[in-house]
Amino acid sequence: ADPLALALGMPKAELHIHIEGSLEPGLAFALARRNGVALPYADEAALKAAYAFDSLQSFLDLYYACAAVLQTRADFRDLMLAYLERAAADGVIHAEIFFDPQTHTARGIPFATVLDGLDDGLAEGARRWGISGRLIMCFLRHLSEDECLAALAEAEPFIGRIHGFGLDSSERGHPPAKFARLFARCRALGRPVVAHAGEEGPPAYITEALDILGARRIDHGVRAPEDPAVLARLAREGVPLTVCPLSNTRLCVFATMAEHSLPRLIAAGARVTLNSDDPAYFGGYLNDNIRAVQAAFGFDAATWYRLARNSFEASFAGDAEKAGWI
Ligand code: HPA
Ligand code: ZN
Repeated sequence: ADPLALALGMPKAELHIHIEGSLEPGLAFALARRNGVALPYADEAALKAAYAFDSLQSFLDLYYACAAVLQTRADFRDLMLAYLERAAADGVIHAEIFFDPQTHTARGIPFATVLDGLDDGLAEGARRWGISGRLIMCFLRHLSEDECLAALAEAEPFIGRIHGFGLDSSERGHPPAKFARLFARCRALGRPVVAHAGEEGPPAYITEALDILGARRIDHGVRAPEDPAVLARLAREGVPLTVCPLSNTRLCVFATMAEHSLPRLIAAGARVTLNSDDPAYFGGYLNDNIRAVQAAFGFDAATWYRLARNSFEASFAGDAEKAGWI
């Protein structure tokens, strides 16, 4: 069978998706109208025209600005449902979804409003499409560790609804080591932790994420081949990498898909998964990433099976749940 058709149709898990990054221009303007919030763009076309990024920071500036339209529990529910509908259409049956509460609490939105809305969406998505979803709370690494510790304290009463913790936002100048105490506390709460590392930052940040934060997966990790010892370690230890190809080309981590490190990561034996990161901003959902990868690299069916299998194996679902998928 055609490997692309196989890959598109396979059941998959998505492990690296920021729910705020699934805010499509249409929904952003609908919520802006509903809430009487102004967006700094005249219309959807003007907003889309601003999706021309030259770095992670240039994207983050727009991503945080657009998040201002998210105000009510219903807004967060609608955002989650819109993502799950698109994900389910791409064969995603399990998603571990990042959210950035500090982006919202800093604007006066209560933590409970964010979490209740996202959970409403997850519950409705499970009913409508049979998709299982979990939430991973991310900390914004451009803020201080003390601010992140305060965010964690705010989250602790809701710990039963938070399945893991992550680290995102501006990577350069904000190494994992800055958050050693924070992640020790997350682990003490019994939750798995992950961290963005080796996206724009150097391979040494991958090592810090593993050794200092205790990260169980590395989000991105695509700069690992710049340090062969780091790449060899990832492969030897079977550390999952949540790779987001369209994100990396849109943010100019690689100038073109042909230059992406994905084939080198796979050839080195790294446990790679494919993901969409911020699908509304980077040109597509999971199957759009698969199409772009296949156009550049022409993987065989065995590689596509491996990538899909990796996505389930690398998830934080229980063994019984995984056994039903693999
Ligand atoms: N990297 C860092 N922070 C982010 C990203 C990303 O790709 N997407 C949303 N926040
Ligand atoms: Zn990300």
